[in-house]
Amino acid sequence: MADNARLILDELLAELEERRKKVLLGGGEERIRKQHQQGKLTARERIHYLLDEGSFVELMPFAEHLETGLMEGIEAPADGVVTGYGTIGGRLVFVFSQDFTVLGGSLGKMHGRKIASLMDMAAKVGAPIIGLNDSAGARIQEGVDSLSGYGEVFYRNAIYSGVVPQISAILGPCAGGAVYSPAMTDFVLMSRGTSYMFITGPEVIKSVTREEVSFEELGGADVHTEKSGVAHLEAEGDEAVLDLIKKLLSYLPQNSREKPPVLEPQDPPDRETPELADLIHPDPRRPYNMHQVIRTLLDGGEFLEIQPAFARNIIVGLGRLGGYPVGVVANNPRFMAGALDINASDKAARFIRTMDAFNIPLLTLVDVTGFLPGVAQEHGGIIRHGAKMLYAYAEATVPKITLIARKAYGGAYLAMNSKDMGADVVLAWPTAAVAVMGAEGAAGIIYRKEIQSSPNPEETRRKKIEEYRKAFDNPYVAAARGYIDDVIDFKDTRRLLFRHLRMLWDKKEERPWKKHGNIPL
Ligand code: HXC
Repeated sequence: MADNARLILDELLAELEERRKKVLLGGGEERIRKQHQQGKLTARERIHYLLDEGSFVELMPFAEHLETGLMEGIEAPADGVVTGYGTIGGRLVFVFSQDFTVLGGSLGKMHGRKIASLMDMAAKVGAPIIGLNDSAGARIQEGVDSLSGYGEVFYRNAIYSGVVPQISAILGPCAGGAVYSPAMTDFVLMSRGTSYMFITGPEVIKSVTREEVSFEELGGADVHTEKSGVAHLEAEGDEAVLDLIKKLLSYLPQNSREKPPVLEPQDPPDRETPELADLIHPDPRRPYNMHQVIRTLLDGGEFLEIQPAFARNIIVGLGRLGGYPVGVVANNPRFMAGALDINASDKAARFIRTMDAFNIPLLTLVDVTGFLPGVAQEHGGIIRHGAKMLYAYAEATVPKITLIARKAYGGAYLAMNSKDMGADVVLAWPTAAVAVMGAEGAAGIIYRKEIQSSPNPEETRRKKIEEYRKAFDNPYVAAARGYIDDVIDFKDTRRLLFRHLRMLWDKKEERPWKKHGNIPL
């Protein structure tokens, strides 16, 4: 090659290197220092921590904003978002990571377009999309163009919902549009103390409603994992959140056409579980540790609980049975006696649909007296919310196994996936009781006149309760009618659940054609 040609190429390569260096520096050293001071990693450090070493391939690093609105002369390397793909545990994933050091990670038109084109590619090849959000929302200088950028992302969040898993980590102060996109994804994770989610921040709230509230009180991780139910998981620091994403992905398939990964079981599927008999109490009013029951059943006692602090009267989460992934839904007798209320119904219904969308079988553990009575619940729309659970279970076509541990009363018996609601297999322990309601309530209604007119009402009441209990407070009436497939010993529970799960693994269930169902929202 001629000397001057070589020289030109060297100059071009030097320019490329120079430009790349600038891009890699994002908003500059000072802002990176500030990011670190706040206990946060940078956008690129997060990607490198999340993905298998050396696997990240960046796309559109040289994207620039479109100089619209008031953006003329403003520099925004990579337009404030790093996008690309790589692997986690050898499996392909697509990642975008917003760079708070560049205009607060705010989303302009090009920023939005980069995320949207990444999402298109992920959907085409069928791999999960992971969003690492650290963004002040719509880029104010770009005006309507930034709103259009959000539109591109929101649209795809909806279109690819149920196509590929979408996971959002909230790793900084996320405002406005920066929270609506995550809200449309399958799982939202937050870093405790360094991330916030709100539509309007404390300043705006103060000027409109005069309420004074801190960032943390308004939209910190505790608020969204305990009160609002917006976030599914929280952890201390960026690394811990990113580790949780890896754990979560280990249960999920790459897309909705695939089955989730089955692992070689480390824990014998036929392991006996006699300890369950010591955990559960035959007295229906005595609470017990449902978490312990779940851990006893699952491989290695490993259970990734989702939304553990929200609506604690119901437990949902992921685990494995003999290597096969399962989504567990269980009443928690330690909170509100396990009764279903508005929040529990929302939490369970959403989880059931997420499992169904990604072909993860459902294991339901029942111990429920009913839907929570009360004016606040009725006026809050428990009818509408409770209906979501009925709908979600009926709609789900994944393998569905139900184990009735103790009480299964009334509408809640149906809402916890009874046989008629589409459970493939229903098992019960000898402690199970399937009835319209508890013996006390039932006897009081159907024998009221008899009790009132008897010479000794209290004794008659007790007798009638006992009669009712004998008739219905057991699993055998339901088993006699085929609503329960088998009443089983505690020690055989894991073994039988595994057998049924393996039998159902290749289940296929067709539904009548429709545009889409209309779940009550
Ligand atoms: C452009 C922004 C910006 C924005 C912050 N910056 N918000 N640039 N558009 N929306 C810039 C700042 O000028 C600053 O630039 C840098 O980002 C860091 O911001 P700071 O305020 O210094 O950071 P901090 O003190 O940590 O506060 C973070 C924050 C705050 C809480 C997010 O910046 C904030 O409240 N921003 C506005 C949030 C907001 O109202 N967004 C619009 C939402 S409406 P320099 O150069 O100094 O580093 C929306 C519409 C879509 O999103 C709705 C769709 C449904």
